[in-house]
Amino acid sequence: MTRKTSKTQPTDGGETHQTAQDGHETMTTQVGMPIADGQNSLKVGRRGPHLIEDQIFREKLFHFDHERIPERVVHARGYGAHGTFELTQSLDDVTRAKVLTEVGEKTEVFVRFSTVAGNKGSADLARDVRGFAVKFYTKEGNWDLVGNNIPVFFIQDAIKFPDLIHAAKQEPDRAFPQAQTAHDNFWDFISLMPEAMHMVMWIMSDRTIPRSFRFMEGFGVHTFRLVNDAGKSSFVKFHWKPQQGMQSVLWDEAVKINGADPDFHRRDLWDAIQKGDYPKWDLGVQIFDEDFADSFDFDVLDATKLVPEEQVPVRMVGTLTLDRMVDNFFAETEQVAFQTGNIVPGIEHSNDPLLQGRNFSYLDTQLKRLGSPNFNHIPINAPRCPFAHLQQDGHMAMHKPQGRANYEPNSHGEGPRENPERGFRSYPAEEQGEKLRVRSETFADHYSQARMFYLSQTDTEKDHIADALIFELSKVEAVSIRERMVSHLVNIDIGLAEIVADGLGLNEVPVAAEPARPVIDTDLS
Ligand code: HEM
Repeated sequence: MTRKTSKTQPTDGGETHQTAQDGHETMTTQVGMPIADGQNSLKVGRRGPHLIEDQIFREKLFHFDHERIPERVVHARGYGAHGTFELTQSLDDVTRAKVLTEVGEKTEVFVRFSTVAGNKGSADLARDVRGFAVKFYTKEGNWDLVGNNIPVFFIQDAIKFPDLIHAAKQEPDRAFPQAQTAHDNFWDFISLMPEAMHMVMWIMSDRTIPRSFRFMEGFGVHTFRLVNDAGKSSFVKFHWKPQQGMQSVLWDEAVKINGADPDFHRRDLWDAIQKGDYPKWDLGVQIFDEDFADSFDFDVLDATKLVPEEQVPVRMVGTLTLDRMVDNFFAETEQVAFQTGNIVPGIEHSNDPLLQGRNFSYLDTQLKRLGSPNFNHIPINAPRCPFAHLQQDGHMAMHKPQGRANYEPNSHGEGPRENPERGFRSYPAEEQGEKLRVRSETFADHYSQARMFYLSQTDTEKDHIADALIFELSKVEAVSIRERMVSHLVNIDIGLAEIVADGLGLNEVPVAAEPARPVIDTDLS
């Protein structure tokens, strides 16, 4: 057979041996030694053994061997972009946080969208909650609003989070499914956790198969506290409303997209931003005081409940625009460390037991994931306002505290000092009570808001919820788990329970699960 010779010339840059000329930089080792030959390792003779003195080879392989860091224990698959947040309405009546009071101020932000259960290499269109994490680089330090695209959560107390995630991710013996809700462990756990029922209605809805990140809402989920200059406290729920509108795909479309392009959501965000079609979200707040909160028939500290917008309208106060992709995915999107603990003067936590647990978990996991207590020295995590503290040393320390005094107070006249006027002071909430390991009985109604959500859907959306439940539960092998799930649906909507029981081929609709508290009749008419 004769080999065809190509008539085309190699294009510029297509040479095998590419040397530093025509303005190209000289390749060096990490410590700057110029490299003459990057193609061959050092040997004895042409075909002889390799020499361990080959420091160029050793450095290159050493670094390559350590390229991977642990993926996030949840939200491993994500995609980030830079942008700005511009405040359009001042909230100075309720907070002293400058990011929420100075109209026209543009604050730089970094946003990371993610799925929750799948591994780093999983497909984008999984039926899953999406993370919507925003880091605001404010003038008073970084504020991280680490939210999701669904306004409520599965569990009420952070001590259940490891169980939830163990049950949701791949089963430990078989290591599948990698990114799906459709398996026994997930539904076994959920059906034994009535508090998850409101969230179950949302995850079986079209919300968990968004068309792209650009068409999703975002929510802070928890009730947070705002404190104004006079020291007055209010509660707040945060919302992100996409100016693009909300869109989802059908499950059949999601399955096809996952097969054809598992990076569909990443590509969509990349393409939109590269061509200048910048996605925007309006920041909304629901603000209410403690007395008003006490008038609700649910507890605002319970993250399985939302505050109905009919009761507290959402006030739009600013706009987030994403307009720049990262220069390097690993340096920025992988190494970014969002923390619910990152708050600024005027924005505080509430006693929500899920939020309180998160405040521990993020810092702890990031030490493991990023390997050093200095992960805030990485540019994507570093504040963009002046900062000065006396924390020092540790692996990979990059900041150089100046001078001799690395403690305070000191008599050298050196170093940063506290600022009673501008500094963070916790709201002096009055707390008292016995030390108890309990769940408040105000957290006990698990079905009313699940029903409210289901009844608020259009007929088509209700059909999608029923179809999703039938599809997901039909993958569950244990009939007892299927029945237990349907027994919860009976408390939510008997019509839905009948459709799902029929779809699963159950002989009869199981009796209703025992509610922890009588179901409140939610009249939506
Ligand atoms: C990521 C813990 C609940 C939103 C993470 C990570 C952990 C974690 C350990 C990985 C962080 C990292 O490696 O950098 C928890 C715990 C929770 C909880 C213990 C409950 C007790 C929630 C809730 C939300 C949420 C309720 C939404 C409101 C997120 C988001 C990320 C994340 C968006 C990804 C952040 C990123 O893009 O890097 N969570 N989480 N989590 N969590 Fe949670």
